[in-house]
Amino acid sequence: MTMLSGAQMKRPLIVVLNGPNLNMLGLRQPDIYGHATLDDVEQVCIQAAERLDVAIDFRQTNGEGELVSWVQECRGRASGVVINPAAYGHTSIALLDALHAIECPVIEVHISNIHRREAFRHHSYVSQAACGVICGLGVRGYAHALQAMADIIEDEG
Ligand code: DQA
Repeated sequence: MTMLSGAQMKRPLIVVLNGPNLNMLGLRQPDIYGHATLDDVEQVCIQAAERLDVAIDFRQTNGEGELVSWVQECRGRASGVVINPAAYGHTSIALLDALHAIECPVIEVHISNIHRREAFRHHSYVSQAACGVICGLGVRGYAHALQAMADIIEDEG
């Protein structure tokens, strides 16, 4: 039997970040975003993380600066970042710069299919820093993103 050291046994950390107005999930435009609340999304992520044997840190903010600071904190701390930048994905070069600066894999998630919606949602700055983008699969997209991120982390060794 191979003995694992404490460091080897530590589960990789995936930080799950949520941008503005996602605290309104469940109330907000249910025809587009469905009825699940942000707490439900967190539960989806917790269950996926248990299944995948990874640790998660799940957060939401309405502030662009706070989101940038949380991304910066991921450098050297997180093995991967799953981010639903919400509207900041379409507007924030600061968020893109922060994601480039942390040097860890990033997966972008949108609950809705942004490509079937208004033209201003078709472009995302965040996508330039992301190894993959999941959109239009509802809150299940978060579980798919965590699965993909766990695979990427395992591949990277
Ligand atoms: C969103 C899509 C964005 O265009 C929008 O601004 C959001 C939510 C989504 O999850 O579908 O706030 O990121």
